[in-house]
Amino acid sequence: MSTWHGLINSDYRRWLPVTDSTPAISLHEGNTPLLPSAHLSALTGCDVRLKVEGANPTGSFKDRGMTVALSKAAEHGAEVVICASTGNTSASAAAYAARAGITAAVLVPQGAVALGKLAQAVRYGATIVEVAGGFDDCLRIARELADHHPVALVNSVGNELRLAGQRTVAYEVVDALGDAPDIHCLPVGNGGNITATWGGYQNYAGAGQATRLPRIWGFQAAGAAPLVHGAPVAVPETAATAIRVGNPATWDGAVAARDESGGLIAAVTDEQIFDAYRAVARHDGVFAEPASAAGVAGVIDRHRRGLLDPGQRIVITLSGNGLKDLDASLRDGHTTTETSARTADAARALRLTA
Ligand code: F0G
Repeated sequence: MSTWHGLINSDYRRWLPVTDSTPAISLHEGNTPLLPSAHLSALTGCDVRLKVEGANPTGSFKDRGMTVALSKAAEHGAEVVICASTGNTSASAAAYAARAGITAAVLVPQGAVALGKLAQAVRYGATIVEVAGGFDDCLRIARELADHHPVALVNSVGNELRLAGQRTVAYEVVDALGDAPDIHCLPVGNGGNITATWGGYQNYAGAGQATRLPRIWGFQAAGAAPLVHGAPVAVPETAATAIRVGNPATWDGAVAARDESGGLIAAVTDEQIFDAYRAVARHDGVFAEPASAAGVAGVIDRHRRGLLDPGQRIVITLSGNGLKDLDASLRDGHTTTETSARTADAARALRLTA
């Protein structure tokens, strides 16, 4: 049995911009499950697989890029890294910074971050600034601070290190399936992950590791869909807070991924996102955070509208772990029934007869 020691210590290292003098700051991220979805396959007539990125060490795909960003920051002797975040980037940056002995400063939109993500950043020891505004304001401030102070920006904006790490998801998919799928679906917020995912498939095909390229289907929340409208959204709104972004920093990369792959970027409503969130938990046993179910919502939507040909192989990125946002789950109401301490009462509550 081979053991896994994280991306930098794996065969994927040759795709990462690291050298012998780069320390490996790793939490053994990557190598996440690619699960067949019996439910979505039966529904669509396609072969649907779920790439469970919530299985990463801090519970999201961000760890793929952060291991590279913090390894390089450590190599260069950085003392402080800074990022703007809707929650997951900050949790990941804080964890990898802790491991590197570097201070993490994170800017998050006030009142719009799932509590689990904030709790992670707090526990890993990050310095947290809550900004009275949205993610886009946080990113503007983080960039200005990085321009004028000795702090390293670890957002994926123009950050080749983060993107290089995040490309590994495509390598893992091709290695697991033997080739690229027909379609790769994923949620889109700031645009970094769709750019990196497409770049990964391109790299692998270019190196002869895959014979084909997938179409990339990105999905944004309807209230925060600037790439769908072709213009920034001043006040983005969605209960899927991870992707509440009005002016994606990696705009051009996202559009290129769509166009070069012959894919699409479409909108799904919050209702569709939350239906998909419930469905993957209920039918596939995967607790993914709401935003991360946008890709599933998109596939279901296209199938219902007759826009999905059966017989295709589809990979859907589930980008983050459901445990990060317990409010979102419990808001739905729980199905607990009060009982006394008597077994007979519990049996009645559970409708167990005989
Ligand atoms: N899914 C989750 C769970 C996310 O946290 C994000 C982005 C995305 C999808 C979209 O990825 O931004 O590369 O297009 N979260 C960022 C953050 C904005 O700050 O954690 P993207």
